[in-house]
Amino acid sequence: MLLSAGVSPALPFILLLDNGVVEGRPVRHGDVPQLAQAILLGRKSARAQYWLRRGRTEHASVPAFQQLAAELHALGAPRELVGRALEAARDECGHALLCYGMAQRHSGMPVAVGASPGWHIRGGDRSTRLSRIARESLYDGIIGEGNAAKRARGRRDAERDELTGRVENAIVVEESRHADLAKDLVHWAVREGASLAA
Ligand SMILES: [Fe+2]
Ligand SMILES: [Fe+2]
Repeated sequence: MLLSAGVSPALPFILLLDNGVVEGRPVRHGDVPQLAQAILLGRKSARAQYWLRRGRTEHASVPAFQQLAAELHALGAPRELVGRALEAARDECGHALLCYGMAQRHSGMPVAVGASPGWHIRGGDRSTRLSRIARESLYDGIIGEGNAAKRARGRRDAERDELTGRVENAIVVEESRHADLAKDLVHWAVREGASLAA
């Protein structure tokens, strides 16, 4: 899935985080949540940087859902769950573009967007893979995306700028749907034998 919003400079890979807080469901390398690569070409105002960071976080959720869909498929999960994971990847792509668009609005210049963090189908026996999906769905989905929806709702309700409010609203609706998907994934994985214990 491509996000083309300007040149794609070869940037060093940038790891998180501010205060260790991650909103949403970022793809992880090992245990480390990743950010996508993107830089401001225009004014580096606080608002522009804020939206750039949100865009990079949303962008890093695209490979997380692509990975989730592929791993669910490999485990023989119901098609409906695989389809919802792919739909969520498309939603996250939309969130990233909205946030990069807001960064562009505040910086006055296009945002240069690089590659998404990579992903692969992770190994382990069936029980290990099911348990990993269950735990990630609990922490990144139910909690992380649930919090992302809650915070976006608060920002939307306090927002006076119409366009910003519309962006927050799109994120509220879709992050809530992702948190619901995560609940269904936990139920499915536990029925299949997953353990939520670390
Ligand atoms: Fe998102
Ligand atoms: Fe999400």
